[in-house]
Amino acid sequence: MSMSNIVIFDTTLRDGEQSPGASMTLDEKVRIAKALERLRVDVIEAGFAIASPGDFAAVEAVAAAVRDARVCSLARAKREDIEKAAAALRPAAAARIHTFIATSPIHMQYKLRLQPEQVIEHAVQAVKLARQKVDDVEFSCEDAGRSEVDFLCRIIEAAIAAGARTINIPDTVGYAIPAQFGELIKQLLTRIPNADQAIFSVHCHNDLGLAVANSLAAVQAGARQVECTINGLGERAGNAALEEIAMAINTRRDLFAVQTRLQTVEIVPTSRLVSSITGFPVQPNKAIVGANAFAHESGIHQDGVLKHRETYEIMRAEDVGWNANRMVLGKHSGRAAFRARLEELGINTGSDEQLNRLFARFKDLADKKHEIYDEDLQALVSEVSEVAAVYELDHLKVLSESGQAPCAELRLRVRGELQTSVARGSGPVDAAFKAIENIVTSGTHLELYSVNAITSGTDSQGEVQVRLNDQGRIVNGQGADTDILVASVKAYLDALNLLTSHSLRAHPQRENDGI
Ligand code: KIV
Ligand code: ZN
Repeated sequence: MSMSNIVIFDTTLRDGEQSPGASMTLDEKVRIAKALERLRVDVIEAGFAIASPGDFAAVEAVAAAVRDARVCSLARAKREDIEKAAAALRPAAAARIHTFIATSPIHMQYKLRLQPEQVIEHAVQAVKLARQKVDDVEFSCEDAGRSEVDFLCRIIEAAIAAGARTINIPDTVGYAIPAQFGELIKQLLTRIPNADQAIFSVHCHNDLGLAVANSLAAVQAGARQVECTINGLGERAGNAALEEIAMAINTRRDLFAVQTRLQTVEIVPTSRLVSSITGFPVQPNKAIVGANAFAHESGIHQDGVLKHRETYEIMRAEDVGWNANRMVLGKHSGRAAFRARLEELGINTGSDEQLNRLFARFKDLADKKHEIYDEDLQALVSEVSEVAAVYELDHLKVLSESGQAPCAELRLRVRGELQTSVARGSGPVDAAFKAIENIVTSGTHLELYSVNAITSGTDSQGEVQVRLNDQGRIVNGQGADTDILVASVKAYLDALNLLTSHSLRAHPQRENDGI
């Protein structure tokens, strides 16, 4: 059976970032982009350049940092969007502009307020302009899953004739069902006269839990690019999960006859990085990257696996990067080795002062924990945040005794000035958060609190995610420490610091969003 290549288009940094609360800083985006490069995805959608100056800078920084993947920016079918995308992509070794316009009757009538003929005209003009800027242009029919097939055929034929080399069929609202979505792709490929001049792509949302199934049905029908995100992050219920698509294709080569160039051992480390940066924990029973994905509980299964692994395992945990923790540094590692490993991970070590701060934190950690893994380094960097901190932890003491309400004594540095507080709570974390609120009075609502061990072993660092909602504005804070109470306080303060620093950005799928 001859294998054809399938393009893996990762949109964690763009659609993934549209998950409420998942916004990432520029340095975090570069770190994720470098991880995606190690994973060997083909295309990295780095952002929506016109959304804000921060988004522009992030697309530009990713374009400059990545060499072994094409870097892409989203742009509505508008001159100003395409010009911004092209400008941000200038440093890229290989660039793509991804322009889109909605094609479903409901979007054309109520959102765009355009006639179908006008929509075709906008699409053609946008693709032509984008082709003047870069060779590689992708065109998406937003809400294709609810568009009329005849209209899709017309607009896609026109977009290909105007120079689009990839045609993306998004199921924007997650409405499709696998057999029907596969049939749509088949019809488009057979009915559009110039379909052979473009790669057909799909971009599925997970509102009905079918994003991966729909994407795979499309691949079987002839799609040769899949848009996906790490951990299935994305708008609302998310996008198709890259790791699930990749492993379904690899594991069932007999059915798909396609291959990716992915380095699958990088899947778990990349998943962890994205989870830690965005503050979106991975559920334990999540396929491929969940903590239990390869854990056998039942005695019969364990016995079978011990006798012959394939009795109950269809994939090997090590092939997706489980158990791949590598001790990279230790107590005696010097500054040069530390800096070199950070740079290999795509971490910007910044000024000498920033490096000194990171190194001091590393030495501190190495004293408590002898083996330092990449995951520890990533957590350490997330913690020494680029955001100027208004609130910093100076001292924490928590008393916890059975039968007594725990009590936290806390000293914070607030804009450089020390303030103290004492509070009791139903548990030690509750007491510590109450003590913070006594000082800060943020009025925010705590939406999520989660703790994970970064690596294995009881000396592992605990990584805490805290999600705060400030009247609809959602931020995720992270903190890591070998003491999970300290990690919890750091995460809470990180979220508060993010709230004081967040800038507003436009959303690609809202028209006239103040751009
Ligand atoms: O879901 C969607 O339609 C999108 C497009 C912009 C590709 O994200
Ligand atoms: Zn989307």
